[in-house]
Amino acid sequence: MIQNDHAITVENLTKKFGDFTAVDKVSFRVKEGEIFGFLGANGAGKTTVIRMLCGLLTSTSGNANVAGYDINTQSEQVKRNIGYMSQKFSLYNDLTVMENLLFFGGVYGITSKILQDRISWAIDMAGLQDRTSLLTGSLPVGWKQRLALGCALLHRPKIVFLDEPTGGVDPISRRRFWELIHTLTNEGTTVFVTTHYLDEAEYCNTIVLLHAGKLVAEGSPQKLKTGYNVQSLEDVFIHLVNRESD
Ligand SMILES: Nc1ncnc2c1ncn2[C@@H]1O[C@H](COP(=O)(O)OP(=O)(O)O)[C@@H](O)[C@H]1O
Ligand SMILES: [Mg+2]
Repeated sequence: MIQNDHAITVENLTKKFGDFTAVDKVSFRVKEGEIFGFLGANGAGKTTVIRMLCGLLTSTSGNANVAGYDINTQSEQVKRNIGYMSQKFSLYNDLTVMENLLFFGGVYGITSKILQDRISWAIDMAGLQDRTSLLTGSLPVGWKQRLALGCALLHRPKIVFLDEPTGGVDPISRRRFWELIHTLTNEGTTVFVTTHYLDEAEYCNTIVLLHAGKLVAEGSPQKLKTGYNVQSLEDVFIHLVNRESD
């Protein structure tokens, strides 16, 4: 099942919470170095899939291989080899920018000499020079978002999972964030990102649409539009979601 050019392979991944099936036999592959967009309405199951792929939530059934490791049996190795930016950013608001970076560096077990370099890199990438002593809670959302990305990348993971990173972020910060994502993939990092914004889906190499826990479409934005003979991704999704609801 594992192929060398795939960063992630998912087969029949399922998660039940009691009687409720939140993720229903989902299968897909993510190529190394691509931007993989995970789309779907609120409650579709996106975060549940991400948490299973990050080794944070056990699956009910099915398999997945992430960065060469099995999520069911090697969750510790999975965690060490990926970066995860959660939907809520999970930064400490009552710590300064620098304190958050030091804290997350410690969590990843990065030695202090290397950590200095990584923190400088993250500060430059996030454009937070001269702001390192500000309280994180006082930062505008766009800056918090870039700080959260910097924290998720301190250990240089090959794969990074971004769960709705641009929710509530202004358009200029969103654009800047997507430029960062492109820089990362140009350097070979695989980016797995969920979004509500269809204009952002257009920046992805491959997109998957999840509806009520099931995968209902997969392909490049162009392939999906051509396949349904429509002009926009919005039309593709309206078509698919209506079909599923029938
Ligand atoms: N720990 C949980 N216990 C019970 N239900 C859950 C739990 N986590 C998520 N769910 C449910 O699973 C479904 C998918 O949730 P989620 O993965 O957060 O969706 P999304 O990220 O696409 O908005 C939702 O109906 C949600 O209420
Ligand atoms: Mg979610």
